[in-house]
Amino acid sequence: MQGASFSPHDDQRYMAAAIRLSRRHLGLTGTNPSVATLLVRDDGIGPYIVGRGVTTVGGRPHAEPQALDEAGERARGAVAYVTLEPCAHHGRTPPCAEALIRAGVARVVGAARDPDPRVSGRGYAMLRAAGIEVTEGVLAEEAADLLKAYLTRSTKKRPEVILKLALSNDGKIGIQGEGQVPITGEIARRQVHVMRAEADAILVGIGTALVDDPLLTCRLPGLSARSPARIVLDRLLRLPIDSQLVRSAKEVPLFLAAGGEADPARRAMLKEAGAEFLAVEAMDGQIALPELLDDLAARGFSSLLVEGGASTAAAFLAEGLVDRLCLFISPGSIGARGIAAPVDPDHIPSGFRLLRQASFGEDHYFEYVRAD
Ligand SMILES: NC(=O)c1ccc[n+]([C@@H]2O[C@H](COP(=O)([O-])OP(=O)(O)OC[C@H]3O[C@@H](n4cnc5c(N)ncnc54)[C@H](OP(=O)(O)O)[C@@H]3O)[C@@H](O)[C@H]2O)c1
Repeated sequence: MQGASFSPHDDQRYMAAAIRLSRRHLGLTGTNPSVATLLVRDDGIGPYIVGRGVTTVGGRPHAEPQALDEAGERARGAVAYVTLEPCAHHGRTPPCAEALIRAGVARVVGAARDPDPRVSGRGYAMLRAAGIEVTEGVLAEEAADLLKAYLTRSTKKRPEVILKLALSNDGKIGIQGEGQVPITGEIARRQVHVMRAEADAILVGIGTALVDDPLLTCRLPGLSARSPARIVLDRLLRLPIDSQLVRSAKEVPLFLAAGGEADPARRAMLKEAGAEFLAVEAMDGQIALPELLDDLAARGFSSLLVEGGASTAAAFLAEGLVDRLCLFISPGSIGARGIAAPVDPDHIPSGFRLLRQASFGEDHYFEYVRAD
């Protein structure tokens, strides 16, 4: 059988390629995960790819039928690399495990397991029952890292929360009363825009919205259509009508997390300008974050990029709601007038581990994930 001739090294190599492909539609597949499938065969001259698929924008079709369509008859006897266990239930589309069986693949290599009870273990069981060899867990951690938003929403019923902050070398995130202070350089800034493109929503506190007047869109060439929804914690609806966020609300969704005590006239004005509202619960005079996250998950948001400011970041950290912590550290110092960051590489809350570090121009990047 074809699949048996592949070495563990081949499996890792093709799974790594499938994981890279799955990244293409991050943030674009609604409540479905961005998953990839590669179909690889070896006719005696070494393995080569005959079909590839990544979950379509919007979430359907899934990756498997697209890869099978591309491969056609060449799928028979091929090895399928799937970054997430193939679905086994009849939903709006027939089960992908069934499609793989019908196409006659020889072997399925899977990375992450799907926690969805309709799938968990059943996709692989269905394949095995049909006589298909299954190799599970190849690069499982790497695949799960890219699927974290979907996995978090499935298991915790809230979006994955990614806290991103830019810090000076002396641990400051801005200057008191000075509005937006450029901390990191252009290359790091572009990296942040990639993170925006891959997120379902960005959130800031009203303090940042008032002082910085940010736009919070993805402004990389060719990727402006990938700007996620913007959310502001704005209990009293203080966001100015002429702010960049409101002025762009008809092009890029803007949600204001506002309390019942906000002025109805302001609410009407902001609504007219294109803003939408999230009903929130209050806790000690602040917006209750767990309930807000429940609401966002129910609306289909799987990942939330929190971009500050200091109090908002501190609140998410204090409530144990941060899953991933992304710190960009510049070589420059700000000094005594700076606003202290609520977290820095020397003071990482317990339960986090360093996942990766990199340099973006002169800036250093540290990414930590919470071990659940
Ligand atoms: N370097 C960076 O990465 C970065 C990123 C963003 C911002 N910044 C800087 O950070 C500074 C602003 O920080 P900030 O702390 O003043 O403002 P902030 O965190 O942006 O906003 C705080 C406000 O959000 C509202 N809020 C509602 N619910 C909350 C909750 N559960 N927890 C916390 N806040 C809640 C409160 O306003 P109400 O009183 O109206 O409820 C609170 O005053 C600016 O200087 C900005 O330039 C730096």
